[in-house]
Amino acid sequence: MLSTLPAGTGRPSPTTTAAPWWRDAVIYQVYVRSFLDSTDDGIGDLAGVRAGLPYLKKLGVDGIWLSPFYPSPQHDHGYDVADYRAVDPVYGDLTEFDRLVCASHRIGLKVLLDIVPNHCSSEHPWFRETLAAGPGTEARSRFHFAPGRGADGSEPPNNWRAMFGGPAWTRVTEPDGTPGEWYLHLFTPEQPDLNWRHQEVGDEFEQVLRFWLDRGVDGFRIDVAAGLFKHPELPDSEDPEADERSRDSVNPLAWNQPEVHGVWRRWRAVCEEYTAGDGEHRLLVGEVSVPTAREHALYVRPDELHQAFFFDLLSAPWDAAAFRTTIDAAVRDIAGTGSTVTWVLNNHDQVRTVTRYAGEPGVEGSGLGAARARAAALLMLALPGAAYVYQGEELGLPEVLDLPDDVLTDPIFSRTGSRKHVRDGCRVPLPWSGHASPFGFSQGAAGAQPWLPQPSWFADHATDRALADTSSFWHLYREGLQLRRSMPQLGEGPLHWLETPPQVLAMVRGDGLVCAVNFGSDPVPAPVPGAPLLASGPCPDGVLPGATAAWWITDLKTA
Ligand code: GLC
Repeated sequence: MLSTLPAGTGRPSPTTTAAPWWRDAVIYQVYVRSFLDSTDDGIGDLAGVRAGLPYLKKLGVDGIWLSPFYPSPQHDHGYDVADYRAVDPVYGDLTEFDRLVCASHRIGLKVLLDIVPNHCSSEHPWFRETLAAGPGTEARSRFHFAPGRGADGSEPPNNWRAMFGGPAWTRVTEPDGTPGEWYLHLFTPEQPDLNWRHQEVGDEFEQVLRFWLDRGVDGFRIDVAAGLFKHPELPDSEDPEADERSRDSVNPLAWNQPEVHGVWRRWRAVCEEYTAGDGEHRLLVGEVSVPTAREHALYVRPDELHQAFFFDLLSAPWDAAAFRTTIDAAVRDIAGTGSTVTWVLNNHDQVRTVTRYAGEPGVEGSGLGAARARAAALLMLALPGAAYVYQGEELGLPEVLDLPDDVLTDPIFSRTGSRKHVRDGCRVPLPWSGHASPFGFSQGAAGAQPWLPQPSWFADHATDRALADTSSFWHLYREGLQLRRSMPQLGEGPLHWLETPPQVLAMVRGDGLVCAVNFGSDPVPAPVPGAPLLASGPCPDGVLPGATAAWWITDLKTA
């Protein structure tokens, strides 16, 4: 039986909260390369982001996270940083960066940068130095260099596999031209791992943080935040195949080592210093991939990271029980320790929800994936904690699955030779307007083609159409965000489940917001009589159709 609550009592009135802004913030992830191109070279840039700020303000997010824009040979689209204190000319320069921060702050949007501390680019001056310096030098000790195994050292120092395929070690040629030592890289060979037990590494990153904080940024998204330290002996892994990304697992000898928490304590102290200066909280959000919510909670202790992406909801199948178990674990083990849960359904590394939830290949045409993605969005926005929205999610963009092999740029494709897990399909430049590529992504008709080709059906998702159509994804996100802002008690506080049939989840939040999701295909009675405040699809009074979520306000005192 679906327990029924009293009828709605209208829209909530805004209240205020003293909690720090980041505890329930909704941040929009800008994949700079694919957001908006101001120079007609087919690649998005910082001036393009600035031009898009009014659009983001209208959507109603609290801030933006910018994917890496630093000088980089782009072997992994900027996650191979050659200089941590500058802007790659393809994206702009420091003056343009300062303009972007200023313009964002003027309209009340926070700005988070992506910082990449686990590895740098093989073109970073530190790594170039290692090649000239030779074995046993101070320069090499900032990385993980080791002699090879076997009589002639031609076998890697251990059996670790790289996340993007192949061995996690590459052999260098020494300055005298002979085959030499090997260096460790958990990702591509162009991303050598830094040795965080070397004092200078930690000191350098503290200075990098200060460089950007002094320029006014509001915080950092930390790449591979459970990485950094490796087992000091670099022993063989018991199950190297399981360590590869394709097995959805990470090598416990190379990740989640206890020393990493000391780094986050140091970074938190730096942020607190800036917060003490002007009262504005600076934020650290980590990309933390660890096996359990309990281990995850260790990263968000009061003196460590403020937030860490909780990826379990993103990887949960479209199933009420799976969602409920995942949400319960997060609320119990993360929010229960006084921290905040940071929800995420999409990002630049994952298949977009519209496609992921579509079921069997080919079912997408039915609109099922889109209906479920809309329902999942309303659920996410009703959960206690913070949330991140990936660009294009608010347009209901599906994954582009049929990019030809010869345009794929993801190193996962070149390293594994397989399209499985390839991430280009969620990174195709955004459609803004019009009926043909570049869909307003670049302005000039004679400009270069977008760096990844946009399919013709992107026209249906362009922002101009989305804004004009009140039934669009965009309006659903906007209304959800507006309502969330007017109900601060939604961000923090308890979550109570209502009794429901197995294919339905219904929860009560704050002073009486009920959010229910029907994961099944058949309609069920709604948990609250009357019209919902907001619904992800058509929702007649008293009914919650399949693949639909809705919010109602109810007066709990009379329940
Ligand atoms: C993170 C990023 C991903 C990148 C990898 C290596 O997982 O999200 O895009 O390829 O780190 O830096």
